[in-house]
Amino acid sequence: MSNHIDFLLKQNRLWSQSVKDRDNNFFRNLAAQQTPKYFWIGCADSRVPANEILGLLPGEVFVHRNVANVVVHTDLNCLSVLQYAVDVLRVQHILVVGHYGCGGVKAAFQNTRLGLIDNWLRHVQDVRDKHRTRLMAIADPDQQLNRLCELNVLEQVLNLSETTIMHDAWARGQDVTLHGLIYGLEDGILHDLNMPVATDNELLSYYEAAVDRLFASAG
Ligand code: CO
Repeated sequence: MSNHIDFLLKQNRLWSQSVKDRDNNFFRNLAAQQTPKYFWIGCADSRVPANEILGLLPGEVFVHRNVANVVVHTDLNCLSVLQYAVDVLRVQHILVVGHYGCGGVKAAFQNTRLGLIDNWLRHVQDVRDKHRTRLMAIADPDQQLNRLCELNVLEQVLNLSETTIMHDAWARGQDVTLHGLIYGLEDGILHDLNMPVATDNELLSYYEAAVDRLFASAG
């Protein structure tokens, strides 16, 4: 056990030194303030680390992660991070980042019983059921799962856009845009699902158009 912690501390010292070798004042400057432009809401999956995927340094992206990157209207944790990001840090872009091959989405899709987490994943099952007819029309199970991973991202962008925090920010004219992205574990590439939201006008029709595009491009 302590060997593992020793290993982590050693890794940390090496990393800290490598950053200081590039910029000796890096940590001193960063300790004074954080001014990230981006807020990332992603999956807790260990293979989807925000900073590394974006190639950004500490201080450049504010992060909230949970299983299957879900935005729930009663989740005080997510809402608190969102409110701080929007009202205090004044981030300009909020990225909801799903990923293909998401274990949470897969468990939700297949009704796998995993325990307490089933209740959390019920939100993803709601997304599945909302688009059930179109999902079931896809023959390939891998493609079905890919579509649900994408649909889950669009749904969470919609949920975000309906929060009081976003309504208030847009009502006072704050420049902040929501984006839905999806990440490929197999190639390390992020894809834009092309549903940027910078206002709460016509949200539902905008969302429906994005869903239509998704099924159209999937063929
Ligand atoms: Co995941």
